[in-house]
Amino acid sequence: MAKEQNKKMNIILIGFMGSGKSTVGRLLAHKKNMNFIDIDDEIEKSEGLSITEIFKRFGEKYFRDIESIHLEKISKIDNSIVATGGGIVLKEENIKILKKNGTIIFLDAEPEIIYKRIKNETQRPLLQIKDPQEKIKTLLNERISLYNKTAEIKIKTANLSPEEITDKINFSLKFHF
Ligand code: S3P
Repeated sequence: MAKEQNKKMNIILIGFMGSGKSTVGRLLAHKKNMNFIDIDDEIEKSEGLSITEIFKRFGEKYFRDIESIHLEKISKIDNSIVATGGGIVLKEENIKILKKNGTIIFLDAEPEIIYKRIKNETQRPLLQIKDPQEKIKTLLNERISLYNKTAEIKIKTANLSPEEITDKINFSLKFHF
């Protein structure tokens, strides 16, 4: 009980690439009049490079290290909406930090819907390959249990608009606290 009382008021969005974390996060922050932080944006700002360029020049391991460093910064904030990158759950220590720093919401999307959303985009280096559709299925398969075990609230996004997802989140939050 004491732990719940001390819980930070950040709302942290996790989920696969293209599940809408950044768009929904911005909208939710606007509606709730809260600060919004996108960890990928923070990484790009501090490195002065796009995520694609970071992967190209330094590789995924470097990106993951930087991602963990930026995640640590959420320990210093409260009352914010935080959008994370889709791979944030790949490290156990990241999951621990997430859990300590707010309420975690998993935006769950089907592989077909993710593919439709990302197929014309170029800023996701892991999907800039011949068969992104297959890669989405494989990665999602590897990660789904991590998203599920990390999140306290799961939102099925299906074909919902960002506004509808935001409303669903707000509704779930009412019953969560
Ligand atoms: C990644 C997701 C991306 C970004 C990077 C790696 C992943 O963020 O962090 O390209 O491993 O799923 P989005 O989920 O915001 O696309």
